[in-house]
Amino acid sequence: MNSFAFLLWLLFCTVLSSSSLPYEDLLNSAREPEFLDWMRIIRRRIHQHPEIGFEEYKTSELIRSELETLGIEYSWPVAKTGVVASIVGSGGGPRFALRADMDALGLQIIFHFSVGLHEQFEFPVIDLIVSLLFVLSQELADLSYKSKVDGKMHACGHDAHVTMLLGAAKLLQGLKSSLKGTIKLVFQPGEEGYAGAYHVLEEGALDDVHAIFCIHVDHTLPTGSVSSSPGTILGSADTFEVIIKGKGGHAAALHRTADPLLAACSTILSLQQLISRETDPLESRIISVGFMDGGETHDVLPESVTFGGTFRSMTTEGIDSLRQRIQEVVVSQAAVHRCTAIVKFMDRAYVSTTNDDNLYNIARTVAAGLLGEANVHPFPRLMGAEDFSFYSQRMPAALFTIGIRNESLGSIHTTHSPYFMVDEEVLPIGAAFHAGVALAYLERR
Ligand SMILES: *[C@@H]1O[C@H](CO)[C@@H](O)[C@H](O)[C@H]1NC(C)=O
Ligand SMILES: [Zn+2]
Ligand SMILES: [Zn+2]
Repeated sequence: MNSFAFLLWLLFCTVLSSSSLPYEDLLNSAREPEFLDWMRIIRRRIHQHPEIGFEEYKTSELIRSELETLGIEYSWPVAKTGVVASIVGSGGGPRFALRADMDALGLQIIFHFSVGLHEQFEFPVIDLIVSLLFVLSQELADLSYKSKVDGKMHACGHDAHVTMLLGAAKLLQGLKSSLKGTIKLVFQPGEEGYAGAYHVLEEGALDDVHAIFCIHVDHTLPTGSVSSSPGTILGSADTFEVIIKGKGGHAAALHRTADPLLAACSTILSLQQLISRETDPLESRIISVGFMDGGETHDVLPESVTFGGTFRSMTTEGIDSLRQRIQEVVVSQAAVHRCTAIVKFMDRAYVSTTNDDNLYNIARTVAAGLLGEANVHPFPRLMGAEDFSFYSQRMPAALFTIGIRNESLGSIHTTHSPYFMVDEEVLPIGAAFHAGVALAYLERR
């Protein structure tokens, strides 16, 4: 071999060794103008046509069409509208999943609530609130590609999640021949209260998967940073709805009635004691009553009263014991007032989300390599819940949040706000992060 050939060989080896963990290459590829434009167009198309849980037909169609263009095989339908794609590398190896949720939010709930208020009150100040709430049923972000569907909006960033996962699909498909295992891309329906993840698992779509990773946009972090922590990071959540039935009648002949309003008030106060008198003070639990409805006028006691709310805990055992005690307290307190009660809970309560230490460490290393150590933050534990929790109960899982905050752009609003906005600079970062974690997992195994 002459010296020139040797030099070439040396150069080749250097390129090979530096590309064994090609995080920067991933980010640079995803930031190529053509790649970025492709992602932007996808994200804006999904954003303009938001679809709520288990109705993500057009979103699912768009995902499948992009996968076909990329030459990636998929299973569909999974849990009604979901798509699970597979990028199969050479020679067996582990199977790793990346997950994106697809559903938008319905904002019309606020709208119905406001109409209800409008019918009951004639005061000008209430009218003002009513008109404000009416506006809230539409997307209020100042964008050229706003939601085209009244009352629905991608206000949780799931349009960006889908796009970042498609971006990762494109990056990983390009590296397919060198993959040391299989990567499954899970486009999941119904995160917002529908427990879509539970249904994806029920169908057995991920039975052969060894671990799973996801990211969620985060308006508290500047673009270019991520956060997470090992262990339990999100709580479990359930809701309850109560009907207390009494005996209606004239308020002046109250001895011939069984007052469901008084029963409901006592019950609501007693429920708070489940937190203040039955919960270990070093544990965190919540019971909140968010609505109450009963009675029409001053001097008639109603037949029945309904109320409901949410309860949360950092542990799944906590939520299970609260559920049992809520049932007992409601029925017993109703009986004290000579009323009867029915309690209804969610079909599928969200369990706690727990990050696997090992997978968390792998993803953290990738993030530090991509964005720098200073841009990787710990995650402040929250009572908010995510259906990603169902995967985390079944297999090693890790959830990271990814920053979208940019003051000059205005992407500073919380998820679920009609002003919510995503800094699209996050798209290539998220695509590279997803792809990098999958590659690192397959390397490490
Ligand atoms: C925020 O967005 C603007 C406009 O896209 C951009 O010029 C600026 O660099 C961004 N700022 C940060 C801190 O990323
Ligand atoms: Zn949400
Ligand atoms: Zn979300």
